[in-house]
Order: sequence, then C-alpha cells, then structure tokens
Amino acid sequence: MINRRQIMQATLATGILSGMGVGGARAQTRSLVFDTKNYTELTKTIQTARGDRVVAYRFYKAIPYVSAPVDIAYQSLNISVPVSIDGKPVDSSASPILFSNSVGGYMPSSVAEATGVGGAPMRGLPPMGMQPPPQAAPLTGIGAEVQSGGNAMIAGGKRVSNADLALAAGMTVVEPGARGRTLTDAAGIYYGVAPAAIVDLKAAVKYVRFNKGRIPGDTDRIVSSGTSAGGALSALLGASGDSPLFAPYLEAIGAADASDAIFAVGSWCPITDLEHADMAYEWNWGTNPLSRGSAVDQNLSAQLKSGFAAYQSSLKLKGLGGFGPLTSANYADYLLKMYLQPAATYYMSKLSSEDRAAYLAKNPHIRWKSGKASFGWSDYISHVGARKKGLPAFDAFDLSAGENNLFGRDKTKARHFTAFSQKHVTGAPEIDADIPALLNLMNPMFFIGRPDASTAERWWIRVGTKDTDTSLSVVANLAAALEANKRKVNSAMYWDAGHGANEDADSFVRWMSMASTR
Ligand code: DHB
Repeated sequence: MINRRQIMQATLATGILSGMGVGGARAQTRSLVFDTKNYTELTKTIQTARGDRVVAYRFYKAIPYVSAPVDIAYQSLNISVPVSIDGKPVDSSASPILFSNSVGGYMPSSVAEATGVGGAPMRGLPPMGMQPPPQAAPLTGIGAEVQSGGNAMIAGGKRVSNADLALAAGMTVVEPGARGRTLTDAAGIYYGVAPAAIVDLKAAVKYVRFNKGRIPGDTDRIVSSGTSAGGALSALLGASGDSPLFAPYLEAIGAADASDAIFAVGSWCPITDLEHADMAYEWNWGTNPLSRGSAVDQNLSAQLKSGFAAYQSSLKLKGLGGFGPLTSANYADYLLKMYLQPAATYYMSKLSSEDRAAYLAKNPHIRWKSGKASFGWSDYISHVGARKKGLPAFDAFDLSAGENNLFGRDKTKARHFTAFSQKHVTGAPEIDADIPALLNLMNPMFFIGRPDASTAERWWIRVGTKDTDTSLSVVANLAAALEANKRKVNSAMYWDAGHGANEDADSFVRWMSMASTR
C-alpha cells in the first residue's frame, strides 16, 4: 500500500507532480469547458467490412485537457464527431465514445499535428534496446506501421484503424495524446516516465466526462482502445477507474473534476504486468532461439521460469471455460485448449481447401481433423521460431530496455524494477524504494478486484500467436483475472499473427455498439 504522502514525496522533485510546465514555468490555468464551435469540417472515405463509407465529420483539434499542463504538445486531445455517413445525417450523441490512444513503446504520443481522425503518429517502435523482429516473422510488427501511424494496427498486412471504423459506425472518437518515457526538460529531468502516461489518459477521460452534453456521445459508455504499450494503458485505464492512488497526480496537472471510470476496454497485445513479465517471458519463450539463432542463457532462463511458477500460483486464477486452477504446469495446456487451437482452427477454416492443404504440407506438426486444428506445445513453440527479446526481456541487465526508461526518475534515464535484475547487476536485490508503488500504478492486475477502483464492465482482449513481445500468459492472466471478478471478457488470439495485429476490428466496433444497448 502506498499513501498520498509517499507519492508526493517520491515525485514532487521530478516535476511530474509539481504542475510546472516544461522549462519550470507554472503553466497557465485553462478553461476545461469544451468549445463546441471550434472545428473544421472534414470528409473521409473509410473502408469497412460492409463497403466504403463517406463520412463527413467535425474535427476538433489539439484541445488541452488539463488546466495546468506540463507539456501541452502531449496533454491535448482531438475529437471527431460524425455528421453524415454516405450523405445521411447521423447523431452520435446517444452512442458510445471511442477513446483511442496511439501510445507505442511507452513513448510520448502527440495528436497536435494530426490532420484528421486517426492521424496521430504512433511513435517510437521498436523501443530502444529492443531487438528487431525475427526475420521469419510476417509483416505484422507495429514497427512497420509506426510512420503512417494513427492508432493503426495491421490486418492481413493492411493498416486498420479502430478510430476510423468507429467514426464510420457513427460514433464520436476521442484521440488523446499523453506524455511518454523519453521526454526531458531543459534541466534534463525525465517528466514523462511512470506514471505520467496513465495520469494523462485519466485526465483526458475526466475531460470528456466533464463535458457531458457538450461533447456528443454517451459519457457513461466510453470505450478505450490501444495496442501494445497503448493496449497496456488501455487495460490499466479500464482496471483502475477513479482509484484514489492517482488523485495527487491528477490534481497537480489540473484535471477536470469528473470520474475517469470507463465502460469498456479494447486491449491489443498489452505489454503489461511488467514486474512479472521477465519470468513469464522465460516460461513462454525460454527455449526459443534469438533471431541470430543462439539460445539465451538457459540457467538464467530457468531461474526466471521458476519465479513464474511461484507467481502464477500466488495469483490463484482459474482458466476461462471451467479449466480450473491455472499453474505454470498446466498453463501450456490451457493456452492450447482455450486460445491456440481455436485460433488455428478459425484461421484454417477460412482457407480454401487448396490453401489449407498447402498450409498443412508446410506445417506437418499441425493436424486437421473434423474441422479442427490440433498440435502440441513444443510444436507450437518451434512453429513460432525466434524470440524477439533477449534475457531478461524487460528489465535488461544493461538498462537498455524501454521499460528501464519507463521507470526512470529525475535525471536518471533508466532504472531496474525487478529484484532479479537488480541482484544480478549489483549483488543486492533491493530496487529503489519508490519503485514498487510505481509498478502498482502501472499494472492493471494490481487494480482488478480492488474495492476502491471501478473496473470496466466489458473487455475485448486480443494478441497474435506469433507475438513474442511478451508472454501469452500476461494476456491470458489479464482475461482470467477479469473473469474472476465477474467482468464480461471477450478474449481471443489471432493465429500466426505478430505484434500489433488487429484482425477483427469491424467486430470490435460492432461489439462496442452492441455493448452499449442497455
Ligand atoms: C511495445 C513493445 C514492446 O516490446 C515493449 O516492451 C513495450 C512496448 C509497443 O509496441 O508498444
């Protein structure tokens, strides 16, 4: 447990809490009343599963969402309000609102330069110190997409944007910027490290709810979406609604006085549960070679893996579908039954019989019988091929991982955040005293089930089966923890898809609007 005074003490010096603008000047206090008249009218043709839609919309650009911003370039949001679709007037005021972040790599994300819906660049991938995707992986890394960006994910090699599709379905789309880990001020202070990004997203939600009736849309039906680090933040936003632990941070930047609880979450390949992610990674991908063909240190890998066993037991989670208690011993079987074989079955059922035969010939370890795909865990692991990350995957010994930077502080760019890496490097396991509280603030698993947090009711969780940016258990545990807390969870994996895949965006948008009918 952390209390407010500890947070204040830990972070006052950093400027994160101080309400100081970049450069040290106290930022001007701004009105948080949404100006309904300040828009440009734009038109966009959007490809949907049911054909192209020509959407006319009002575009409200770069609106600061806090009254005392630290950096207005990031603490601003865009709003797109559909006016007509294929020439027919639409009114989005009773529809859910899509709240679509474009965070990648825990990097800063700004919407200030966007020229329309879905236009914010998704910066920063691959994050520093992270290895490039394995050669064998299909073109699914977000890295390929970051330049064109705009909340974009990938379906069959093509760019897909939840923001575009929600607009084409007649919904208001809010696209927030947020501070990120690499930002430094003139004095060299890191002001976008944890928990800045989640504080900003919460402040942006508060802004939207504060402007209920002015921003068209049902503010009780805010649906968050994000991918990877953005998927993690989307999940965290949904898990931690109105948690008092964020209050001092939100107060410091002049967040609007309104709830930041949201209704539903879309989370693609969330890079989350960071303090357990190294262990989980070795449990999942410990025997997969690196892209240059060599294995990671199997002794260290085994040590981390045994940490995963203890952690998984401590969670006391049950698998979806009546699977029973989840342990490191049965987790592979769980993933096969609940996610991987169904994903392969779906994928193969969509192939023509010719293409299916060719796929089976190329992948002899996969069996196809009575319309169902089956295979074993070690077959699956070798099917995936190279792992994307070294060891440890997140708390790098040399502090080179993006996550080390995420837990930087003041003028220190990067710090260790696990006892394992801290001990390996320094001989003693004690991480800096402020870090455990920061880890909590960044982890949806910490908030799910806490009585003082309001957790979203509905969840859409997706990851590709060739995504080795984190362990599949991270994603599956999130789903299981939510289900244990009686949330409605729609979780699935995309067969043979890599990092950043979003192969059923149209279904997600349909799910959004279905979920909104009371
Ligand atoms: C992202 C990817 C990573 O591998 C990671 O460690 C953090 C973030 C991303 O794509 O956002």
